[in-house]
Amino acid sequence: MPDLPFPRLRLGGLPTDLQPLPRLSQALGGPRLWVKRDDLTDLGGGNKVRPLEFLLADALRQRATHLVTFAGGAQSNHLRATAMAARRFGLEPLLIVFDDSPTARAQGNQLLNLVLGARVLYLGWLGKPDPRRTIEQSIRLMALLAAVYPGLAGPRRYVIPVGGFHPLGALGYVAAAAELADQAVQQGVRLDYVITPAGTGTTAAGLVAGFQWLGLPTKVIAIDVGRLWHDFPRSILRLAETTLRRLGRPGRVSPEALAFHGDYVGPGYAIPTVQGLNAIQWVARTEGLMLEPVYTSKAMGGLIDLIQAGRFSREDTVVFLHTGGLPALYAYNDYFRR
Ligand SMILES: Cc1ncc(COP(=O)(O)O)c(C=O)c1O
Repeated sequence: MPDLPFPRLRLGGLPTDLQPLPRLSQALGGPRLWVKRDDLTDLGGGNKVRPLEFLLADALRQRATHLVTFAGGAQSNHLRATAMAARRFGLEPLLIVFDDSPTARAQGNQLLNLVLGARVLYLGWLGKPDPRRTIEQSIRLMALLAAVYPGLAGPRRYVIPVGGFHPLGALGYVAAAAELADQAVQQGVRLDYVITPAGTGTTAAGLVAGFQWLGLPTKVIAIDVGRLWHDFPRSILRLAETTLRRLGRPGRVSPEALAFHGDYVGPGYAIPTVQGLNAIQWVARTEGLMLEPVYTSKAMGGLIDLIQAGRFSREDTVVFLHTGGLPALYAYNDYFRR
C-alpha cells in the first residue's frame, strides 16, 4: 500500500479481522457475506478509533492539553472513544452533547464517560448538532459557550468536529480500505461491495477515497442511520474529494463509487427500527455476532432488505463493516423482551 503522508498514532487493535459469515450467506441464499470486525478495535471498539489515530496525532503535534468534541446524544461512541484516547495520552476530555442530560442512571457509553472522568456538557437547548459545522465554526461556538461555561475555550484545546467529520478523520478509513485490500488478497476475497452505516459520513467518505486512491473498483454502500445531514450523499463525496486532494490526488469522485440509501432510518437518529431490532436478534442467533440499535442494526437491516430485493448476485461479495458501538446496546434493554 502507498504510504499515507500524515502523522498517525497507533491506538491499537489493528488490523481487525475479516471474517466470513457463512450461515448468514446461506440463510439469505447469497451473496457471499463477510464482516470486517472494526467493533474489535481498541478504545472500547468501533469505527471512531481509526479517525482518532490521525486527529490525535495532529492534536499532540499542536501540543494540545484538552480534547474537545461534540455529539448529538449521550450514548455517542465518538464521545467515549475520544475520551478514552484523550486519557491514554494525558489530555483532558471535554465532551459537548447537544441533548438533554439523561435523567436515568448512567448506562452504556454515558457510564464509561463517567468512569473516565470526562467533563460532559449537555446542551439540549441548542438543538441538534449540525455535522456541517467545520472546526472553525466549532471553535467559534466554543468561544461563545465559554462565556457561560468557564474553562471551555482555551489556547490548547484541540477541537474535533462532530463524528470526526474532517479530512484527517476520513484518513482513518483510507487506511482501513488499504488494510482491507491487503486482507482480501491474502484471504482470496473479492471486494465487490463494502457496506457501512453512515452517521456523519466520515467513514463512508474515507472508504470511497481509499478505494479510489488504491485504484480499486469496490463500491461503498452507505446506509443512513439518522438523517443528520440533509446534504447526504453529496457531503460524503465532497469529503472524499477533499481527502484525496490532501493526498495529492485532486479530482472528482464518481458518484458511482457510492450507493447511498436513506430509507432505513425509521423515525430518526438513535430511535431503533423494527427491521433493525430483528436484524440484531437474527444475526446474533445465526452467527453469534452482536450488533447495536443505533448504527449497525440499521445497516444490517438495510443489507438484508437489499439482498431480498435482489440487488446482488449470488457470486457477489459484500463486506459488512462492523463499526462497533456495543456499549450503546446496554442502554436499550427496554427494547428486548424474553
Ligand atoms: C457504531 C457506529 N457506527 C457508525 C457510525 C457512523 O460513522 P460516521 O459518523 O463516520 O458516518 C458511528 C458514529 O458515531 C458509530 O458510533
